[in-house]
Amino acid sequence: MRWLSLVRTPPLYRTPTLVRRCQSTSAPRHIRVLQDTYPTDDYTNITPTISSKLSRRLHAQEGHPITTLRSLIESHFPDFAHLSSLSPIVTPHQNFDSLSFPADHPGRAKTDSYYINKNAMLRTHTSAHEVEVFAKGTERWLLTADVYRRDEIDASHYPVFHQMEGAKIFGTDASSIDQIEQESQRLERQLALSNIDIEDVRHISETNPAQTSHDVRSSEVIAKNLKFCLNSLMYKLFAGIAGAAKSDPLRVRWIEAYFPFTGPSYEVEVFFRGKWLEILGCGVVLQSTLDRAGVPNKMGWAFGLGLERIAMILYSIPDIRLFWSEDPRFLSQFTHGKFSTFKPYSKYPASYRDVSFWKPSSDMHDNDLYDVVRDVAGDLVEDVAIIDRFTHPKTQRHSLTVRVVYRSFDRSLVNEEVNLLQSRVVSCLQKLGVEIR
Ligand code: PHE
Repeated sequence: MRWLSLVRTPPLYRTPTLVRRCQSTSAPRHIRVLQDTYPTDDYTNITPTISSKLSRRLHAQEGHPITTLRSLIESHFPDFAHLSSLSPIVTPHQNFDSLSFPADHPGRAKTDSYYINKNAMLRTHTSAHEVEVFAKGTERWLLTADVYRRDEIDASHYPVFHQMEGAKIFGTDASSIDQIEQESQRLERQLALSNIDIEDVRHISETNPAQTSHDVRSSEVIAKNLKFCLNSLMYKLFAGIAGAAKSDPLRVRWIEAYFPFTGPSYEVEVFFRGKWLEILGCGVVLQSTLDRAGVPNKMGWAFGLGLERIAMILYSIPDIRLFWSEDPRFLSQFTHGKFSTFKPYSKYPASYRDVSFWKPSSDMHDNDLYDVVRDVAGDLVEDVAIIDRFTHPKTQRHSLTVRVVYRSFDRSLVNEEVNLLQSRVVSCLQKLGVEIR
């Protein structure tokens, strides 16, 4: 499932994750994650590769592109609280229930999220902290954090990425609503002077309704305020680079969306190099979230955006793995507060290996395969593509052919090394019960 599609579309069914600790045959009873030790159970699927990312905190590393982008966005919301130190380990309650995710939502599946055990997981989005931040009485805030999702492997997907969540809540009496309107008008006047072309959708429609407990006009006022704030943020981020020429307007498009924790909900896309790119998800905060936070008399909006995707555009960074590089040839190119064009220091050759196998009779999810490859090859894997799938007409067994592309950013990989990596991948797959063809 592609995470960059911020909305998770429910697949028909999900199957349990295979226990896939390749190194040891029996899973350990306890694991250490950050400073704590946790008992394992049949939910445990966090891998050593993933654990090792928890302490990196790229979004707090001076000069790192993710940090510079974060600062730029923070500067757009000067009167908001700027938070960035919340632990990535949350409960499924925080990540899902506190936001009214239904019990059968696919995002909860072990195939999609990393669990330490049944009661502790790595947050899959910054929205996981909405209730606790609102509960502290913070009414305007921006939160930057690393988030974790099991996903496929290619140049724009990585199991860890960074999100920023922004939220603002308001009083709902007539004078507060009036104030929101005034702020929106001010933003609207500014935008009218900017070279931006906005394709809007109706704030509220039959397919994107206001919440039943909300006064429709108030909901509309809040949605409108959200749209103006974000349109001006998009202009700040992309003006000048998104179009082919400086004279071209920046094109921003709003579309109706669905999230379990907002209503109405939207996605924002920006036109870049001939394509619409999904930049963020947002909407009017579900009232039950605010009730849980102890602020039932407020209404508000929230948005969540992925930083890597924006940084890849602003810096021309071609591969998402580069953000994790500790190579000075990468890091020394950036200065805090500056957007420069990344100069690839070299492109070493890629080398690929194919493997065909019968899937085990107990089902195996594609994400199990991706985690095996990541655990063996780490950032030496550039892409994993399933290039053929078929079901044997008589036995009904499923076969896959998988192409793993290996490439290092720092050096040429020699054949022997690639062979070794691939043979480790193959033997880990065999431990999952696959039969090599
Ligand atoms: N948390 C959502 C995601 O990661 C984005 C979002 C945040 C949507 C806030 C609405 C409001 O997909």
